Amino acid sequence: MKIEVDRKYLTYADMELDALSCVRCELCDTRKNVVLCDGTLDAKVMVIGEAPGASEDEQGKPFVGRSGQLLIKLFSQIGINREEIYIANVLKCRPPENRDPSRIEISQCSPFLQAQINFVSPKVIVPVGNFASKYILSTKEGITKIRGKKFKLHNSIVIPTVHPAYVLRNGKKAQDDMLSDLLNVSKELRDS
Ligand code: URA
Repeated sequence: MKIEVDRKYLTYADMELDALSCVRCELCDTRKNVVLCDGTLDAKVMVIGEAPGASEDEQGKPFVGRSGQLLIKLFSQIGINREEIYIANVLKCRPPENRDPSRIEISQCSPFLQAQINFVSPKVIVPVGNFASKYILSTKEGITKIRGKKFKLHNSIVIPTVHPAYVLRNGKKAQDDMLSDLLNVSKELRDS
């Protein structure tokens, strides 16, 4: 699936204003907060997840629940702390019961992510999990095939990895895989 560019924003603030009051899909009826991002525009690393969960919806910040805590712990093991990462999701609002995002939700929400990628222009983008990785790379290849590899997107290198929720469910081998992918991220940052 392609990222659509049907809305262009001249400034980051324009995008932010639009996102925070968005009513373009029905998720606006059930969300508590729009979860746009966490982090600063000068971040060298951008993490992209699927969609906010319950804790994120509650707090208005991405990856603050159990998955987020694991994500940040693994990043800290490669020497990168939360403040150095710009964190976002493909969808900015929580799907009820954490169901899969629908096509219409994705297409209505995608201009926000497109703008975020353009304005941050990170050295490395790390989509986490199958959904975000397939979406960012416009590929049908599953995460087990593409994780840890390098791809080019605009001015950034994309290195997909597994979702921290998958690591929480699958234990040590999954965690070792994620850590090894993140080591490729730190190597890319060092070399570029
Ligand atoms: N899972 C995601 O993909 N994103 C979040 O922000 C939290 C959990």
